[in-house]
Amino acid sequence: MDPVGWTKLQCPWRHLLLGLLFQLVLALCFFSYLHIYQDKPTGFSEAGPCTKEAVKATPNGLAGPPAHPPLVILLWTWPFNNPVALSSCSEMRPGTEDCLLTTNRRVYNQADAVIVHHREVSRQPQSLLPPSPRPPGQQWLWFSMESPSHCSHLKALDGYFNLTMSYRRDSDIFTPYGWLEPWPGQPTDVLTHLGNKTKLVAWVVSNWGSSSARVQYYTVLQQYLQVDVYGRSHRPLPQQAMMETLAQYKFYLAFENSLHPDYITEKLWRNALQAWAVPVVLGPSRSSYERFLPPEAFIHVEDFQGPQALAQYLQALDKDQAAYLRYFRWRETLRPRFFSWAHAFCKACWRLQEEPSYQAVPSIAAWFT
Ligand SMILES: *[C@@H]1O[C@H](CO)[C@@H](O)[C@H](O)[C@H]1NC(C)=O
Ligand SMILES: *[C@@H]1O[C@H](CO)[C@@H](O)[C@H](O)[C@H]1NC(C)=O
Repeated sequence: MDPVGWTKLQCPWRHLLLGLLFQLVLALCFFSYLHIYQDKPTGFSEAGPCTKEAVKATPNGLAGPPAHPPLVILLWTWPFNNPVALSSCSEMRPGTEDCLLTTNRRVYNQADAVIVHHREVSRQPQSLLPPSPRPPGQQWLWFSMESPSHCSHLKALDGYFNLTMSYRRDSDIFTPYGWLEPWPGQPTDVLTHLGNKTKLVAWVVSNWGSSSARVQYYTVLQQYLQVDVYGRSHRPLPQQAMMETLAQYKFYLAFENSLHPDYITEKLWRNALQAWAVPVVLGPSRSSYERFLPPEAFIHVEDFQGPQALAQYLQALDKDQAAYLRYFRWRETLRPRFFSWAHAFCKACWRLQEEPSYQAVPSIAAWFT
């Protein structure tokens, strides 16, 4: 996730206003949580503005009590302290039960599980983690969508957690930034989506980092190829104009900020694929990408001897419509779907329903590399 990157594209006073507004909403939510908890300790279905569509604790609420109370999941902090809208998990996947998901720490002793989002506890895990000893049977879930390069103090988490939750495919709860699923209707007519492409290569970057692999690659690439760079200290790109702007490009540089297995972010799933631009990727190995996408859905920098050869290839594709269209064949029958926090929390809810068995992760640090 790059929530920080988004806000950095905006001017500072606006940022401040948004911050104030956000705090107001946060206060409202907190108030409504407290209120609801006091009134109805076992149900949050009428929660406040942030959880309007949230968690229906009892799908058959009017018809009588459910067979068993819903699992209580305590979200220790909102990711990046940013409250998000939740969804009903049973509506998202019919046949499953809802969980009661809350950030109200007063339910700690009743919680079946606690989701700990890494960023907010990382500063000082010992004092910021939930209290010990934990209630019997309670499971702790470690959650991060950031790569190990941006997760500090992992070692201090040894011996606390029962389940992992991340973009890594081998997580107990796998929450990728995106995935492909079958397109339900008639095969998509790809050409109708490509009509506006008048420009060649775009890149949106907020954290420059002049020694990073991606900036070094770009520095050479731009000697051979015009790349339109957007973001802080480059061309401005307001968020609401982003998709429309990127859709004008044939290619998008989905260059990750750090290189780790399966760390393939919204740079590919949203910036490139949602804009119908062919992703040119720099990140984990090609085989890691092929665990998520068909081989011909993207161009990997590893496929070329260097930036100059890549530049020549992109220029050749620009002139060869048939070859360019091959990067869209998969779209006839598949479509990309995108990560949402609400969906990630439901995945945790479903998993906890399935497998309540004993489990412990001895060391997050040893695994998350
Ligand atoms: C092309 O751009 C026009 C004007 O911005 C827009 O209305 C139209 O939907 C776009 N078409 C496609 C296929 O994206
Ligand atoms: C969860 O992990 C902790 C720490 O390893 C362990 O003490 C506890 O028994 C585990 N609980 C469950 C329910 O698996």
